Amino acid sequence: MKSYRIAAIPGDGIGKEVIAAGVEVLAALAKRAGGFGLAFETFDWGSDYYRAHGVMMPADGLAALKGFDAIYFGAVGAPDVPDHVTLWGLRLAICQGFDQYANVRPARILPGIVSPLRGVTARELDWVIVRENSEGEYAGVGGRVHRGLPEEVATDVSVMTRAGVTRIMRFAFALARARPRRLLTVVTKSNAQRHAMVMWDEIAAAVAGEFPDVTWDKMLVDAMTMRMTLRPQTLDTLVASNLHADILSDLAAALAGSLGIAPTANLDPERRFPSMFEPIHGSAFDIAGKGIANPIGTFWSAVLMLEHLGERAAAARLMRAIERVTADAALHTPDLGGTATTRQVTEAVIAAIGGDNA
Ligand code: NAI
Ligand code: MG
Repeated sequence: MKSYRIAAIPGDGIGKEVIAAGVEVLAALAKRAGGFGLAFETFDWGSDYYRAHGVMMPADGLAALKGFDAIYFGAVGAPDVPDHVTLWGLRLAICQGFDQYANVRPARILPGIVSPLRGVTARELDWVIVRENSEGEYAGVGGRVHRGLPEEVATDVSVMTRAGVTRIMRFAFALARARPRRLLTVVTKSNAQRHAMVMWDEIAAAVAGEFPDVTWDKMLVDAMTMRMTLRPQTLDTLVASNLHADILSDLAAALAGSLGIAPTANLDPERRFPSMFEPIHGSAFDIAGKGIANPIGTFWSAVLMLEHLGERAAAARLMRAIERVTADAALHTPDLGGTATTRQVTEAVIAAIGGDNA
């Protein structure tokens, strides 16, 4: 029997609560589905580790993860540790170290969930956002001089490479082609940013030539927020730079009902390294420890993980279980306007997996 090695990194805050729930659900799923096993190893990296050791993960952290089939990640961030330390010390260190350049973020309205957009139904909001995940605005290039003095200068330089843009465009066009509508929108800002973003547009047009069966258009990022809100049905697959897609995907999550349900995959499409699967939300210290975090985003991320591992039937079974649970408003957590707890939602999903006969 095939067995996959999964590295679980709960991290901080509600990351710990939702990953514990996700591991439980995945164990129940593997047992029910049969045909494959999941062996989890949990890593205690994050802000607690930082307080004890001065680093978010050990120096040989990436080497320890390299042999795993996938990484299941919660969230990082703590009130007493600067956000750039937690993010760069763990999540970005893994994404960049393992060249997980394609960040895939589906957004759709699950059964039982009501979009804050008046009258918008599941059929009208079904998107996948592809985020460039290895360079651009989050390349980490820049610096500060004259620190603390009146003449201080600080820069964050967006870096785009022809290789980096070409590979994310090819990935996005291929993903769009695999979806029924074969429709891709390239998000840009080439009116104001006249160097890298113009190259981004040029490469999009060139790669489009390799995908004649995909209909594509181009949209400025600011106009994109309006289109997502006012004409959601005109969109299907989106590709955007690291910063743009970061922002647009939180908007997409909110329009689809809640940040708490949104999943993401950080993929190395070439499979040189393990890919990483996580809910898009952060550590949410405002609700941490209360047992009310919505675990659906973490469960849906597990669906993406199973698809990446090639376990399509198990992935579909888990998605059906999730949708059966979201369909019941009594099982909605407070972020969805309900009163259910993380525990209740987790148990309901496990029960739905058990009762699924397809
Ligand atoms: P956040 O995503 O943690 O929370 C934003 C709001 O959404 C909060 O009101 C929170 O309670 C709510 N929320 C988020 N996930 C939820 C869930 N599963 N169920 C119910 N409600 C949920 O973003 P915020 O507050 O901006 O950041 C908190 C910390 O998380 C910061 O340190 C930030 O840097 C970090 N962060 C980490 C990320 C990661 O590890 N991938 C991503 C985003 C933020
Ligand atoms: Mg974000």
